[in-house]
Amino acid sequence: MKIGFFQFQPRHGDPAANLDLITNVLSDSQFDLVVLPELASTGYLFDDPRELEALSEPSSGSGSFLSSLIEIAMRHRACIVSGFSERAPEGVFNSAAALDGNGVLCVYRKVHLFNTEKELFQPGNNGFPVFYFNQVCIGMMICFDWVFPESARSLALKGAQIICHPANLVLPLCQNAMVVRSLENAVFSITANRVGSETGQGLSLRFTGKSQIISPKGEVLTRAAEDGQSLTFVDIDPQNALDKRFSPGNDLFSDRQPGQYTL
Ligand code: ACM
Repeated sequence: MKIGFFQFQPRHGDPAANLDLITNVLSDSQFDLVVLPELASTGYLFDDPRELEALSEPSSGSGSFLSSLIEIAMRHRACIVSGFSERAPEGVFNSAAALDGNGVLCVYRKVHLFNTEKELFQPGNNGFPVFYFNQVCIGMMICFDWVFPESARSLALKGAQIICHPANLVLPLCQNAMVVRSLENAVFSITANRVGSETGQGLSLRFTGKSQIISPKGEVLTRAAEDGQSLTFVDIDPQNALDKRFSPGNDLFSDRQPGQYTL
C-alpha cells in the first residue's frame, strides 16, 4: 500500500487556490492514501468567525472543496484525507474527511481544540471513528490531539492500522511524540503538517513542517524538511499493524490492565 502526505502552505481564505495546487501536485502520482494538513482548504487564523463560516462546507461532500477531492480520489482510485472547516447545524467544526471515488467515507471532528481555536470551533462530539479502505482499517486525529494519548489509543483499540493526522503544528514537540503514539499502539501514523506563517487573532504563528510517516515499531520511515512543499510516499504493508506483540511474552493490547487505570 502506497501511503503519503502533501505538506504545503495553504493560501489563507482561498479554498479554490488550495484545491488547484492540490489537484496539480497530485496529478502525476500514483498512490493509495494521501493525507493533507489540518484546515487545508481555508488556512488557520481568522479574526472574524463569520469569514471562516462562509468558507466552511457540510460534511456531506456537496461543497466545492470536498466534492473536488472526491473527483481526484476517483481518478486515482485512492483515499484522500484532508482537514477542512465543517459547517453543521450545531456550529463550525475543525474536521477531517476521508474521501474515495464513491464519496465521503468518514468525518472526524477535532476533539481537543488548541488555544485560540476555541474562539472559532465547537469541540468534536463524535469520538474517534474508524473506516475501511481496501479492507484496511484507518482512523483520523487532528494536530493537538497528539498530546492526549487517549486519541491514538481509542483509534487503535477500534482496530485502526493507520492513523491519519492532519496538522497545523506550531511547536517542535509532536513529531517525537508521534513516534511513541505509533510504538505504544503498534500502528502506522501519517502526520501531514503545513508550512509557512499566518497572523491573526492576536497571534503571529510559524508552522513547523516535518511531516512524517512512522511505522508500528516506531521507525521514522520518512520525514520532510521544516520548510517547503513536499509530496512524499512510502510503501508499507498494513498487515504489520495487526501484530501487537512487543516481546515473546508481551502483547500491547492483551497486557493492558484497565482495572488499574484512572480514566
Ligand atoms: C494545533 O492543534 N493546530 C496546534
